[in-house]
Amino acid sequence: MHSIVVRGGRRLSGSVTVEGAKNSALKLMAAALMARGTSRISNVPDITDVDIMSEVLVGLGARVERSDHSLGIDTGDVTSFEAPYEMVARMRASISVLGPLIARLGEARVAMPGGCNIGSRKIDMHIRGLEALGVEVEIGHGYIHATTPGGLIGADVTLDFPSVGATENLLMASALAKGRTVIENAAREPEIQDLADFLNAMGARISGAGTPVIEVEGVEALHPAEHRVVGDRIEAGTYLIAGAIGGGPVTVSGFNPTHLDMVLTKLERVGCDLERHPDGVTIALHRRASCVDVQTLPYPGFPTDMQPQFMTLMATADGSCVVTENVFENRFMFADELVRMGADIRIEGHHALIKGVTELSGAPVRSPDLRAGAALVLAGLGADGETLVGDTHHIERGYERIVEKLASLGADIRRVEDATLKGV
Ligand code: EPZ
Repeated sequence: MHSIVVRGGRRLSGSVTVEGAKNSALKLMAAALMARGTSRISNVPDITDVDIMSEVLVGLGARVERSDHSLGIDTGDVTSFEAPYEMVARMRASISVLGPLIARLGEARVAMPGGCNIGSRKIDMHIRGLEALGVEVEIGHGYIHATTPGGLIGADVTLDFPSVGATENLLMASALAKGRTVIENAAREPEIQDLADFLNAMGARISGAGTPVIEVEGVEALHPAEHRVVGDRIEAGTYLIAGAIGGGPVTVSGFNPTHLDMVLTKLERVGCDLERHPDGVTIALHRRASCVDVQTLPYPGFPTDMQPQFMTLMATADGSCVVTENVFENRFMFADELVRMGADIRIEGHHALIKGVTELSGAPVRSPDLRAGAALVLAGLGADGETLVGDTHHIERGYERIVEKLASLGADIRRVEDATLKGV
């Protein structure tokens, strides 16, 4: 087990390039199951969630070969339709194989994904939507067992909430359904568009991805395809906030700035100078940040995956503000860790009331989840003294080489084996 030790106060400048989006790559890997043969996916991040999804695919009978940041996924021998508990329990995104298995094999048996530190992570919308497509779903003994006695039939499905995962599973299942499917109140995240682009390259007939209404004309079969994963807008936003905390100028490349519009708008209100480029953004902050209210919403609203990082920036900003979390029911756990570093944050329901303090003080903290862990590393960049961030396996699920990338910007940061720690 590792921890990350950060000594704060260093000025950060320079440039970093983000990897392909974790929250697209995992679904593209699942979608590869839908075509017999070998699909190739490039710009895949080197993170543990990709390792786990590779194991899930191999467990289903696929062969996955990896070179540098590319995957070759040969699904010729996929015969099993079961994603076992030990896999799904390690990564709830494994639920993304549900739609592809039903589409390819007509049956799926997937362990119910557990909740996690940010919320219950229900899947009722996935199930209701699949049932509308003619899927019969039985839930028991911790498993979802889906069958299609009458085959997949296109239908009109309206989601109660624009769920990313539900939209993706329905998109994949409907691609091979008989007839037309319309998904209303669909999620609009750029990762949804990336998945639709890959499915269309495989021969699907999808239109409207990225808008609230997605139309799918089912086809008989899909064929393997090649695809480059869209740049990771959340990884990019994380390094942009590092640039604000460290002063900058910091250039973050490898992503489409329009995918972060709301975040960039808020950072400009905070007082950051931003320069947009075709494949990235340069950020600098020449004064103390100003407190700005934020509320998380489905895309194109402020992304919930940027909420912890933004709260860290607000912790030492001038004034008071409110951060409202509308997407997950329990995504403020890490605020207590910031308070241990001297932040003045009070949680009231799904609002975090923040009063900016002049400086945080370094302290041992723990990462409750992926984005919170990254946010605590960011807090250490600006804190007085050393911060020890524990449980960094959460961070490594979604951030490739975060220590190396921040060090390349001038941060005093290192990874240490927990066993060697004698307190910091
Ligand atoms: C995806 O999760 C991302 N994960 C999350 O990123 C991200 O925060 C989330 O979308 C929102 O953008 C991956 O793509 C692997 P949802 P997902 O379905 O699909 C409720 C990260 O840090 N809901 O849009 O699970 C659910 O409980 C992770 O990279 C139901 O009630 O998100 C949640 O409160 C964290 N019933 C809300 O909707 C359902 O059937 C949003 O969930 C489905 C969801």
